[in-house]
Amino acid sequence: MAAFDILLRVDRQDAYADELLHSGRLERLSKTDRALTTELVMGVLRWRSRLDESISLAAGRPRDKLDAEVLTALRVAAYQLGYLDRIPAHAAINDSVELVKRARKRSAAPFANAVLRKLSGIEVEKAWDSIEWTPAILACEFAHPQWLVERWVAEYGTERAYRVCRQDQRVPNTAVRFDDTTTEAELRNEGVELVPGALVAGARVVVAGDIVRTQAFAGGRVFIQDEASQLVALLVGTGSRLLDCCAAPGGKTAVLAARNPTAQIVATEVNAHRAELLRRRVRAANVEVVQADVLTRPAGEGFDRVLADVPCSGTGTLARNPEIKWRLKPEDLADLQKRQGAILRTALRQLTPGGQAVYSTCSLEREECEAVVEEVLHGEPGYTLLHCRDELERLRSSGELAWKNIDSLLSGKFLRTIPGVHPCDGFFAAVVQRQ
Ligand SMILES: C[S@@+](CC[C@H](N)C(=O)[O-])C[C@H]1O[C@@H](n2cnc3c(N)ncnc32)[C@H](O)[C@@H]1O
Repeated sequence: MAAFDILLRVDRQDAYADELLHSGRLERLSKTDRALTTELVMGVLRWRSRLDESISLAAGRPRDKLDAEVLTALRVAAYQLGYLDRIPAHAAINDSVELVKRARKRSAAPFANAVLRKLSGIEVEKAWDSIEWTPAILACEFAHPQWLVERWVAEYGTERAYRVCRQDQRVPNTAVRFDDTTTEAELRNEGVELVPGALVAGARVVVAGDIVRTQAFAGGRVFIQDEASQLVALLVGTGSRLLDCCAAPGGKTAVLAARNPTAQIVATEVNAHRAELLRRRVRAANVEVVQADVLTRPAGEGFDRVLADVPCSGTGTLARNPEIKWRLKPEDLADLQKRQGAILRTALRQLTPGGQAVYSTCSLEREECEAVVEEVLHGEPGYTLLHCRDELERLRSSGELAWKNIDSLLSGKFLRTIPGVHPCDGFFAAVVQRQ
């Protein structure tokens, strides 16, 4: 079963589920089977700690005493039993037992069968309305690591932390963008139904149809890109020489290219494979893709707009990448912060006087966001932190920002979107100007 194989790879090779699901390995499956595979993989990753808790209880032993293959097969079945009602319990149990046998764990098959029979009687969903939320209860009910939830409660308050956790457990929407005005009609003809974005006027949200199987997607005329990511790219504005420091897979570079058709745009990406992907995806003639560590670029190359969309924990995207919450450790944040600070410093040193840089992440963690900007600006005189409100108001008056309540997108001078609060991923952005 494809879901079982993908989950094992996510676990063992630190692979990303979303990438594996889109890597062509599901090509031979029917549309229904592809949808079920996606649902099982994402569902198991979203609800993993709760599934493990019920499995350990039913098995009478902790999950680390179970073989990876047996545990994965049990998780897939436990998810079907607890969260999907279209698959009969006996079918879910039999499939899982077969997976255990196929994985050469034949001797564990009766055990898996017994555990799942116990589990099939347990009701997993609960009435959430009457619960008084604490970080521990939020973490348990919504299957998140408690340390992460504690941070969100401290940073955003219980109500917002609750919304983040709840949203992380849902299938997120798919937002897209395209430059050609004929693409929308083309997609409609291929059975894809779109509605206008809630945040960014030019964005569209898919409400029906399979966008990745359209000619427009295959031809590179459509980008799947969350609305908050599109908004961050809009914040970069217009200039004559632009640098995109961390560019792959190129969602934001494509926005920069569309808005600055006559500018010279340099897009750097350290990873060779990702730089190649970026070249394939962004074919605008004015974009030069350079495979390099941006930190090695000489300072003072004179760009009037710079984007530093740095590598980050991704905690603002857990609905799309649920495996992140099980991999990330509190101590990873300090390491990320160091790398992010170095990239922001490099970005600022590329600016011409009066030029502006946007620093952004898809993280909800202060260390990777406010703290990086504050620390870097503290050590770099000659730069001013601009108020994102001004740029958002400009985007609103030009008709590019659809969202009416600009204040709700701000945290101090920064842009801050929160999943479950805004209809998009959790992004952070700061705009810095060289004096
Ligand atoms: C958050 S992703 C960028 C997403 C991209 N801006 C977009 O909108 O599609 C960060 C990227 O930065 C790359 N990266 C990390 N460190 C880098 C460095 N020192 N120089 C250049 N690229 C780097 C990573 O390989 C990754 O592809």
